[in-house]
This record gives sequence, C-alpha cells and structure tokens, in this order.
Amino acid sequence: MKVFTAEKAGFCFGVERALTLINGLHRKGKTIRTFGPLIHNNAVLKTLGKKGVRSISSLKEVGRGETLVLRTHGISRRIEDQLKKDTVPYVDATCPLVKKTHQIIEKLDRQKTRIVLIGDPSHPEIVASKSYAGRVTVINSVKEAMGLLSSRKISVIAQTTLDLEFFKKVVSILLEKAESVDIYNTVCAATKERQKATQKLAGEVDFMVVIGGKNSSNTLKLYRIAKRRNPRTYHIETHRELSNPAFIKRIRNFLTAGITAGASTPPQEIAQARKFLQRFNRDKEMTHA
Ligand code: F3S
Repeated sequence: MKVFTAEKAGFCFGVERALTLINGLHRKGKTIRTFGPLIHNNAVLKTLGKKGVRSISSLKEVGRGETLVLRTHGISRRIEDQLKKDTVPYVDATCPLVKKTHQIIEKLDRQKTRIVLIGDPSHPEIVASKSYAGRVTVINSVKEAMGLLSSRKISVIAQTTLDLEFFKKVVSILLEKAESVDIYNTVCAATKERQKATQKLAGEVDFMVVIGGKNSSNTLKLYRIAKRRNPRTYHIETHRELSNPAFIKRIRNFLTAGITAGASTPPQEIAQARKFLQRFNRDKEMTHA
C-alpha cells in the first residue's frame, strides 16, 4: 500500500516550543508542574509523566522548589493576576498566537465593543480567552450565530484551531446581524496549513487516517475536514489502534492511504502508522507500478 502523509501534519510551533521549554527545565533538574495538561495528547503526557511532570489545577498545589509551566492553551486573567502577585516560579508556555488573541480581546474590551468569540466554550483556550474581557458571547454553531440579536457593531474573533470553513460560514451570518463587523481571523497558520493539506490529501487517497488525541480540538477539526472529502476516514489516538482486526478487514484491499495528524501528535506516531500501513498490498503496488 502506498502511504502518503499530508504536507503539513503533527507538531506545530506552539507545541514544539512548549516541549523545548519543559525539556530544558527537566535537564536543569527542576521538578515541573503544568497548569492543566500541557497539550491534548496522552502519549506525550505519558512521556512527560515519566520525567516527573505532573498536572495541577490550582496554584496551591505547587510545592516548594517546584516550577510551574503554563500550558499552550493559556490561562485565565484571574490566574495570570494571581501569578504576578505570587512567588510561585513559572515559565509561560502559552502559545504566542493564543496570547495574541488574549491581547485582541483585552483591546476590544477597552473599546467597549460587542465581542463574539467563535469556538468550543468548554475548551481551555476559550475558557481562558473569554476571561480577558468583561463580556464575551461564545458561539459554536451556525444555529447559535443565527440566534444572535442584531447590534450596531460586532467584533468577531476565532479559536486558534477553528475549522476555517466554519469560521467563514459563521462570519457570513454575522455580517447580516450588524451594521459593522470587525473580523479578526485568529485561526493560526499551523491550523490553516494542516487543514488545507488534509483536505487535499483526503481527496487523493482510498482512505485517511487522522492521528491525535480524542480531546484535541484541532485533530477533531482535521477529522471532520477529511471525512467531508473522504467518507473512509478513521480517527485514531495511537498507531496501535491500527492493528484492530475490524479496521484491517476494511482497509486491507486498498492501494493508497493518507495520514494526517493533529498539532500535538508526535512524529514517531506518524512514522509508526506509516510503517504499519505500508505492509499491506506490497505485491499489488508492484503490479500497478
Ligand atoms: Fe499555537 Fe496554533 Fe499550535 S495556536 S499551539 S501554533 S495549533
């Protein structure tokens, strides 16, 4: 079987930066605590766990001599203010692009504009982003966008990992809801590139495998994008799931497979999945060459 990997897949700049920071601290012998899971990938969290990195949910849990790392999805303004007053040593691994959305939201709040944030209200990034303004309306569906009351002016901003097509659709609805709409397309470059590459590859192969955490927002978006283009799309968290007999039965006669992966999926996972799928149909591939 010929296996193709999307042109852009796996670790993004924000995740790589966070892991570099953590590994640097580990090398210096620091005991590390992260404010919430660093990223949404169990394999990576397990590896960090072996280095003694533990996730905590309150500043009170940080022990003497321990170093706190703020995760890529960001923290709320309340925690940020608390940290400024506190003596807890910390390293900020919030992705700079997430930080940028916080700054935009703060600026819009000062201007007293009506802020509409598009994203998953339960996702830590949105929970944090929302806290940087007094009032933010979070919407996550076309239905919610249609239900918004009209107003003179709206500023619209996106979760960094939003499906770009969905963002455009919601914005087009909001354009009908206000005389003036300020659009901040804060979907990050890594997300845009991965979505574009996934969409392209999904249309060119017999089936698609999307690798990434089941709770990873950007992976779920990649899955939906691939599935729209290719109904034979499978979401796995680790390459081990590929040995499932039911899955093998479904794919074993195909000649081409596509792989894409979320921004927190390590390169080893992609390589292992590739290696596994390449074992199928080697002979047929040769006859078709
Ligand atoms: Fe940052 Fe985008 Fe990655 S916001 S953490 S570069 S998915």
